[in-house]
Amino acid sequence: MGERRGRIRQALRRSARASGIVALLFSLGAGAAQAPSNAQLAGAELNRRVEKLLRQMTLEEKAGQLAQYSIGTPTGPGTGRDDYETLVRAGAVGSLFNVVGARETNHYQRIAMEQSRLKIPLLFGFDVIHGHRTLFPTPLAMASSFNPALVEQAMRMAGAEASSEGIRWVFSPMVDIARDARWGRIIEGSGEDPYLGAAMARAYVRGYQGKSLAEPTSVAASVKHFAAYGAAEAGRDYNTVDMSELTLRQVYLPPFQAAVAEGAATVMSAFNSLNGVPATANPQLLTGILRKEWGFNGFVVSDWTAVQELVNHGIALDGATAARKALTAGVEMDMESHLYGPGIPQLVRSGKLSQAVVDEAVRRVLRVKFALGLFEHPYADEKAAAYVATAEKRELARRVAEESIVLLKNEGGVLPLSTSGRKIALVGPLADSAGDMLGAWNGKGDPKDVVTLRAALERRLEGKAQLLYAKGTGILSHDPSGIQQAVKAAEASDVVIAALGEDASQMSGEAASRTRLGLPGHQEQLLQALAATGKPVVLVLFNGHPLVLENAQAHARAIVEAWHPGIEAGNAVANLLFGDVNFSARLPVSLPRSVGQLPLYYSQLSTGRPAGTTDLTRLPRSTGEKYISRYIDEQNSPLYPFGYGLSYTTFDFSPPVLSVPVLKAAAVKKRGQGVMRVKSQVRNTGKVRGTVVAQLYLGLRGASTAQPVRQLVGFERLTLAPGESRDVEFTLGFQELSFLDANAARVVEPGTQYELWVGDSSEATQHARFAME
Ligand code: NOJ
Repeated sequence: MGERRGRIRQALRRSARASGIVALLFSLGAGAAQAPSNAQLAGAELNRRVEKLLRQMTLEEKAGQLAQYSIGTPTGPGTGRDDYETLVRAGAVGSLFNVVGARETNHYQRIAMEQSRLKIPLLFGFDVIHGHRTLFPTPLAMASSFNPALVEQAMRMAGAEASSEGIRWVFSPMVDIARDARWGRIIEGSGEDPYLGAAMARAYVRGYQGKSLAEPTSVAASVKHFAAYGAAEAGRDYNTVDMSELTLRQVYLPPFQAAVAEGAATVMSAFNSLNGVPATANPQLLTGILRKEWGFNGFVVSDWTAVQELVNHGIALDGATAARKALTAGVEMDMESHLYGPGIPQLVRSGKLSQAVVDEAVRRVLRVKFALGLFEHPYADEKAAAYVATAEKRELARRVAEESIVLLKNEGGVLPLSTSGRKIALVGPLADSAGDMLGAWNGKGDPKDVVTLRAALERRLEGKAQLLYAKGTGILSHDPSGIQQAVKAAEASDVVIAALGEDASQMSGEAASRTRLGLPGHQEQLLQALAATGKPVVLVLFNGHPLVLENAQAHARAIVEAWHPGIEAGNAVANLLFGDVNFSARLPVSLPRSVGQLPLYYSQLSTGRPAGTTDLTRLPRSTGEKYISRYIDEQNSPLYPFGYGLSYTTFDFSPPVLSVPVLKAAAVKKRGQGVMRVKSQVRNTGKVRGTVVAQLYLGLRGASTAQPVRQLVGFERLTLAPGESRDVEFTLGFQELSFLDANAARVVEPGTQYELWVGDSSEATQHARFAME
């Protein structure tokens, strides 16, 4: 063990030197043994079983446990192989993915359990990202709920559905912070903010893994993509990432750390390079931070062909070197590169790779298999009833969707709509497009289970009001011929609902970056033509990317950001439009005014020349207005800020009251938690019941490193009757009050000034201040 530690340390030093990263990128924490992140994987009996099995394995069988192959619909570039049964029989496969259905997984499992020498069960994985068969809203949409407990419940259901088919491992949660709306994968995560991201990351892991991995309904989570994949340059997928250590640790790592601390059994390494070192061969990340600092005791799987791609990155001349670099850095399982299986035995025999590194990797994989109870229960129940989207499943899917849909604009109270005696036009390519409601990663979701907006409105309005439907145009089509018919429907109606947006699978998710973020195809023209009728237009957006809505804003009286809401899309939207349910969601990302502002996020650093209150809507008229951090042709602010969302009622917040007027840095450090309580009274000032997301933001001045102008440090959903008031109380401790100094050490510093804002968006104005002595 000591020898291994020495080797790892050497490798880390070598690589840190090679990449020019200063040694402070991570602390090796010599001797600072972290508690194992997952207690179940650390169990003595479990590890005795692992060691016993390990002793019986040949080198080829060990390498086999570290190899993973996709069978079925590929979710990456093809690598062409079809001898999987032979490989499983030979003990040359540890995991298969993209195999779904109890019968299908059992087929391969039987070969492993009955025909392979050591009868080690296969671990089946799948991209269950926002639901397996019951599709929930996309992760970005679910983050809009600011309701981690609800997300946990939904992901528990998703995991149980997958597990019933033999899939005991899901490639989720995706916890990449994303601040560039051009990046298609922004929809797979929880948005721009590390605090919200960490809360959601914990919720997913709790949902998937339950109290114990051994429960038959539990699945192992895979936290991805480690790390900083969301900061791909220019928002182009798979692109390079280059960032400071402070940003990495303060912004991009917290959701990963939270998921690992919650016990996530596996982590997936990212495609991107980080500061010159590809994440999939990055010992600083995979060994230094993940294992040494955080005590991660699960295993790391590479992303799809990411090991082979080390050759493209230019850090290996051949596959064998790529495999060696990835494995020694800390990637235990090779997804689809087909390099570990055949490559590892040769590397060991030629002396290029130590047997001990291989053994440790195999241990980690076997631990997860034992913890899941796969050796005792390797098979799925083929006699279980086929999937049905039951009322119970729909109820949860609808609730999650209702809490994920954000009301952005409601001019003149055009919403809620009333039904009686009215004519309503429903227009647009997303009004009746079942498949698009399922989102980008639609697992095994079936469009047949989807209730579209058209279907929901037809049912709701039957016998009460008239619905005139016209598609108007396709999502991406440049054929304007349907617009006229849509205009006719609008002219004949009292109000127009325009269901516009993006194609779910082509325009968002992986490999779907965009440089133009307006409505695609002829949809902007359609919207303009509808607005020209003079009828009030309610724009319902079904989209993945945060869109540029400047134009839409000018033409729609109301804007509803519905994202891609899952199987209950139509019912959820209709319930909100007609006011049966009140809007409560808030934006987990800033919506830009123009693409040129990207990346855009509220928690920016101040700069030496902040724009302050300067009017940025016009050209500068003085040197004071000119030589500041601004654009000459656009404002700095987003069109809609992080944390923002309207309701059918209004709320106000009293100024925050602090439990103590000053804090002492030494005491904060010593006590850790609960050093300051912040209270505000929230009142429902409107006429209907509603839920507000109370948000607490913190800013810090006078510190040794520049800090964000403000950052979220607490949120809570409160449901209040009209006129009702209630106190919301946030507790702050070392974690919330500390920051990273220039050595990346977490500190609180005497002589600093803290600002707090409480309210219902990142533009909250109720303010208090205190000093740290
Ligand atoms: C590539 C994606 O980046 C990753 O998120 C996914 O889990 C794998 N493919 C497997 O499909």
